[in-house]
Formats: sequence, structure tokens, C-alpha cells
Amino acid sequence: MSVIEASEVRYAYPDGTLALDGVDLAIERGDRVALLGPNGAGKSTLLQLLGGLLDPDGGTVRYFGTDQPPGEVRDRVSVCTQNPADYLFNPTVREDVEYGPAQLDVPPAEADERVDRLADRLGLEGLLDKPPFRLSGGEKRRAALASALATEPDVLLLDEPVSNVDAANRRAILDLLDELAAEGVTLVVSTPDTELAPHVADRVVLLDTDGTIVRDGPARAVLTDTGLLERCDLVPPQVVELFSRLDESDPPLTVAGAVERLE
Ligand SMILES: Nc1ncnc2c1ncn2[C@@H]1O[C@H](COP(=O)(O)OP(=O)(O)OP(=O)(O)O)[C@@H](O)[C@H]1O
Ligand SMILES: [Mg+2]
Repeated sequence: MSVIEASEVRYAYPDGTLALDGVDLAIERGDRVALLGPNGAGKSTLLQLLGGLLDPDGGTVRYFGTDQPPGEVRDRVSVCTQNPADYLFNPTVREDVEYGPAQLDVPPAEADERVDRLADRLGLEGLLDKPPFRLSGGEKRRAALASALATEPDVLLLDEPVSNVDAANRRAILDLLDELAAEGVTLVVSTPDTELAPHVADRVVLLDTDGTIVRDGPARAVLTDTGLLERCDLVPPQVVELFSRLDESDPPLTVAGAVERLE
């Protein structure tokens, strides 16, 4: 049983832009998937369709093998869109992060605990009493992420979770995502960044600007296919390029992988 299954999904924006055209995608429990593609490929549109924030014009999106509407899976499926302002509308950051748990009737003491834990992990400790619109770009991104995580969902859909984020906080976010994946949380991360993909995914779904999925496969297979990536205006991770130039037929995807290989 897939946790989310999109079949023949088509979506056009009101101005007529056809963002997705016949997309089939099944997300399985425990998957770590990257939605990868150039700007305008439809990654954010697909993520919002998978999360029930948009309704498809054609085709279907089903959750947990049932016909439950997205509103009924709010406690299990959490989305963080590309625009942090979508989540930040309360007088303080703390209230924003507590908003989701409150909607799900999580007792206030437990919600408070979750906020403090996430603030600690995401470097938001000193910022909880601030109005969210006064945060910096990277701080807003981390606050929005904390809001999405606070409901403790089974499935997390994250749109460019580390864009605008500095190196130390990026590391903290990636560590947190690794821990969630180890606990069995299903992760879908959208990004145009081939360097990020191997850190968040073992499966890569590659979209192109015609609104279709051009490849869905193991991260290794997709991220080492230089020709395919170039046709989508992307380049492989630098480590892949380096080892390919050194005539390595099975290049590592990350610096850690390269170090292991060289040792
Ligand atoms: N509200 C909108 N109205 C009209 N067209 C839109 C709207 N939002 C997105 N689009 C168009 O839909 C297509 C897909 O956009 P989408 O935001 O899903 O791309 P993306 O892959 O997430 O790109 P990026 O890497 O820049 O975030 C693009 O052609 C874009 O111009
Ligand atoms: Mg996007």
C-alpha cells in the first residue's frame, strides 16, 4: 500500500500554464525521495498536489490506499511549501510552531515541549518570542520547517528545506531528517540542487519543464546519468563529475562516499 499515490495527475494554473501533465508517482512507506528538476519543472506544484494543498485538474491523489480526502490525513501528512510566509502568521514564532499541534488537539504542555525541542534542534531558541515577519530569510525557513515538524507526521513533504540556510543549520536540518527517516518517517524533498539530493534521498524523481517525470529511480542511477541531467539543465554532483573524469565507472555521490572510496 502506497502512502501517497498520484495517478495521471494534470494541473494547470488559472492563467493557463500547464505545470504537470500526466504524472504517475507512488510514494511508499519509509521512502526517502527527492523531487529533482530545473526551475519551473513543477516540483513545488507536485509537492502541493501530493500534500493536498492543490486539487488536480485531472487524475487522482490517494492516501494510504483509501479514498480519504487530504483534510482527513492532516495529522499524518505534513507539507512545508517553498514560501515560509505560508506558515508564519501568528504574533510570535512560538505560536506559529504550536499552531499545527493545537489544530490536532495535542495537549498544550506537550505542544510546548515539542516547540522547545524543535527550537533547540533548529537554532530557534532566541527567536520564539519574535514576530515571525521580523526574522531573516534563513530563520523564516527554519521556523516554517519547525511548524511542519511539530505535528510529528508519518509523511513529510518539504519544498527546498535548506534554501537560504547557513552551513551549520543545514547540517542540523539534514541530521534531523536522517533521524526522522531512521524512525520510519517517509520523506519527500523537492530541490533543484543535485548536491543536496544524495543527502536527503535514495530515490530520485526527475521532472522536466514539460511537466512530466522523465526518470524515477535509485539516486545513484539518476545522479550519475550526466547526459540525462544535462538535458534537464542540471549537472551531476561535483564528486560524481570528479570521479567520472578520473574514469571511475561507479562514482560516489557525496564527499563522505568519496573519502570512503579513497581510504
Ligand atoms: N500561481 C501560478 N500561476 C501561474 N503559473 C504558475 C504559478 N505557480 C507556478 N507557475 C508555473 O508553473 C510551472 C511550475 O512551477 P513550480 O513552482 O511548480 O516549479 P518548480 O519546479 O518548483 O520551480 P523552482 O525550482 O523555481 O521552485 C512554472 O512554469 C511556473 O511558471
Ligand atoms: Mg519550487
